Amino acid sequence: MTERLTRKELLTRSAKCAAGIVAGGAAIDVLLRNKSIGAPAAPAWPWPYQALDVEKVRILGHDLYYDSANGGGCGYGAFGAILQALKDAVGDPYTTLPPQLMYFALGGAASWGTLCGALNGASAAISLVCDKASCTKLVSELIGWYTQTKLPSALSNECAVNNAYGVNKVSETLAQNVSGSPLCHVSVSLWSEAAGVATNDPKRAERCARLVGDTVAYAVQILNDHFSAKFVAGYVPPADVAICESCHTPTATNPPSTNGKMECVQCHEAPHRENLATPTGN
Ligand code: HEC
Ligand code: HEC
Repeated sequence: MTERLTRKELLTRSAKCAAGIVAGGAAIDVLLRNKSIGAPAAPAWPWPYQALDVEKVRILGHDLYYDSANGGGCGYGAFGAILQALKDAVGDPYTTLPPQLMYFALGGAASWGTLCGALNGASAAISLVCDKASCTKLVSELIGWYTQTKLPSALSNECAVNNAYGVNKVSETLAQNVSGSPLCHVSVSLWSEAAGVATNDPKRAERCARLVGDTVAYAVQILNDHFSAKFVAGYVPPADVAICESCHTPTATNPPSTNGKMECVQCHEAPHRENLATPTGN
């Protein structure tokens, strides 16, 4: 930007801009309410939830992972499984939403290895049916559970051995591990190491399919519990996160400020791990 504005000009422009936003907002409001122009009114959020069958959703999640003709992958599989179950149980408005919405989440978002797509897709479904406070509570529990649970679960391994999925690609029991992280990169890399396979091995794909099943099964379990007032959080954060964050608060500047709930020492060879009471910084 080369243009320089005086304070007065800036204030005038900002005021015009703000007025524009208000006028625009009002126009959008009128458009949304005006049924005569033929657009259906968007259903009010959150959308209605009905208790779902955890085991059916586990199978659906696994199978939709392989639905490559329509999308496929972890984010699509996870979101699609809960969406499909809600379509069957509730009908509208779930019939209006394409599961491809969460296709991008595959491989931690277009293969960037960030948030695991199973978590991303299941969390999107939670956001759709819960108010803000409940969504945060349930999604945090889901992510925490994922970081501390041996996956794929014994149950999803068993489904494979019994050929109980709709799509049965690998019928053996797969190695289990605890990722310690919600990141696709960490989860996939550590599992591949534990199983002794490359990350592009079909067994790794099957592991992720089972993990999608496990993740949506847990998501539906906590949603069922939440809506029947039985939800109790099971996730207990690792002790060192609280220790690190006792100094590295979101407001501190020295020590450097930080945010988040991930396991710190998985990435930071903590500079002052040996003696946390007297950090040396080297
Ligand atoms: C997924 C890996 C990862 C995790 C988990 C993680 N960090 Fe970091 N953190 C980084 C990276 C990468 C940086 C930026 C590079 C650097 O400074 O090391 C960073 C930066 C920081 C900084 C700023 C460092 C500076 O030089 O100013 C602090 C403090 C910090 N992290 C603390 C924490 C704490 C506390 C936790 C746990 C709640 C945590 N980190 C979890 C990867 C991670
Ligand atoms: C008692 C307070 C305290 C605790 C507890 C603490 N830190 Fe720090 N940390 C500091 C201070 C002060 C600094 C800045 C000065 C320094 O570098 O020592 C710092 C710096 C850092 C930095 C950036 C500087 C560097 O050397 O890389 C990282 C990363 C970091 N801490 C991570 C952690 C992690 C991870 C934990 C938990 C395992 C942790 N800290 C626990 C006080 C603390």
